[in-house]
Amino acid sequence: MGEIKPLRLALTKGRLEKQCRRLLSESGYNCSALDNPGRRLIHALPHLSKQLSPLEGILAKAPDVITYIEHGVCDIGVAGKDTIIEQGGSFYEMLDLKLGVCRFALATPGGQDFFGGMDTKCVATKYPNVARRFLGSNPARIIKIEGSVELAPLLGLADAIIDIVETGDTLRANGLVPIQDIHTISARVIVNVAAWKLRRNEIESFLDEVKKAVG
Ligand code: PRP
Repeated sequence: MGEIKPLRLALTKGRLEKQCRRLLSESGYNCSALDNPGRRLIHALPHLSKQLSPLEGILAKAPDVITYIEHGVCDIGVAGKDTIIEQGGSFYEMLDLKLGVCRFALATPGGQDFFGGMDTKCVATKYPNVARRFLGSNPARIIKIEGSVELAPLLGLADAIIDIVETGDTLRANGLVPIQDIHTISARVIVNVAAWKLRRNEIESFLDEVKKAVG
């Protein structure tokens, strides 16, 4: 009998990485290859019971996780709901891992009013699509910033930010106050559309193991 073809899994680097690895280990996958990855980019993650298809894990930035899933070069991905909402795309969102829970919020210096007054306001954000959707018909300008969005109002570039708030420490440290919550965010499992048709049983087994670990 031939070897079972691994399912290829794309994990998001950074914030979610450690928690996802823990969850995979609790689901019975041997994640030791991820402990000291060196310069290798694809890692074998066998299931301890050998009953389930092994995984081939890659670590990527969240937008790339979605790109790999959409193009079908990875079967299963883990990405934050923030990136999923911002980037969109064709894939199935199968499971809320309840990891990396945070929220999108609108925040202003000292909690100043954002919606009052006649002047056109400016919002800085890493998530322009989320901001545009949230603002609706409000004519506010949106400026895309790649990191440390909190700087924009401090520098006088923007009246407000739309960003991820987890502990709220970054906002507090910079005199910003959330004035409206926009969306709750957490890590989600996404699946390539064709893979779901062709390898559904294997993917379902993977999801079942992970669901048990999520509790
Ligand atoms: C995120 C987010 C906030 C901060 C919120 O940034 O953009 O800056 O975390 O977390 P807190 O509420 O716990 O303080 P990240 O650390 O991902 O880095 P970046 O700003 O460089 O993108």
